[in-house]
Amino acid sequence: MKVIVTGSYDESCAVVAGMIRDLVNEKPACKLGLATGGTPVPIYKKLIEMNKAGEVDFSQVHTVNLDEYCGIPGTHDQSYRYFMDTNLFNHINIDKANTYVAKGMGDFEANAAELESKVREGGAADLQLLGIGNNGHIAFNEASDHLISVAHIETLTESTINANARFFEKKEDVPTKAITMGMGDIMAAKCVVLVATGLAKVPAIKGLVMDDVITTQNPSTMLKMHENAVVVIDKELADAVGYKA
Ligand code: F6R
Repeated sequence: MKVIVTGSYDESCAVVAGMIRDLVNEKPACKLGLATGGTPVPIYKKLIEMNKAGEVDFSQVHTVNLDEYCGIPGTHDQSYRYFMDTNLFNHINIDKANTYVAKGMGDFEANAAELESKVREGGAADLQLLGIGNNGHIAFNEASDHLISVAHIETLTESTINANARFFEKKEDVPTKAITMGMGDIMAAKCVVLVATGLAKVPAIKGLVMDDVITTQNPSTMLKMHENAVVVIDKELADAVGYKA
């Protein structure tokens, strides 16, 4: 695992957008694993700009998203399908048939099984983008005494529900369950890029970059075992955790 410290969150996003652009240029039919949440939004904005400027062509790219809430349809403005369409897919030249976000409605077990088959279809993702929860979750693999390898249904913790309440009218509206890729799915990606910013992430990032401990209580620490994982943090966060490059 490698740690990159940038001067600012905007610079972090530019670095990561540049990695994705370079990968797509090198391998036009690549497979990207994508994330939602607040953190990647400026990365997607930069990719849209690059696409419009003719710097990158998404026409052959396939994508699979990390997760989706249970119980809300893809048309709901807080579904992750809606997020991906409005923050990225609607604005770039990707074929939406080549984009996959798990279904949040219907038979959740079957939807998780379908996500797992999409993770495997065509081989491992060339790049998996990740954010990180305040409790160290990646995708919705929550801090717990055990972790699950494959796609599954996860019960969201109080910490995650509180953090995500900002996107909903009221906390009670935040779904309590989600379909998520498992830890093995994430670890199978050829390259994993985790981006974090903000002081709420200090405990999680401390556990990730400051020691060699791997614990299910901070699922992100599994990335220490990935030989091509990159953690991108800004100086403010690096200073707050005491990380020295
Ligand atoms: C989103 C996801 C989550 C988020 C995490 C951080 O698809 O899998 O793990 O990356 O909750 O969210 P933000 O970026 O909103 O702080």
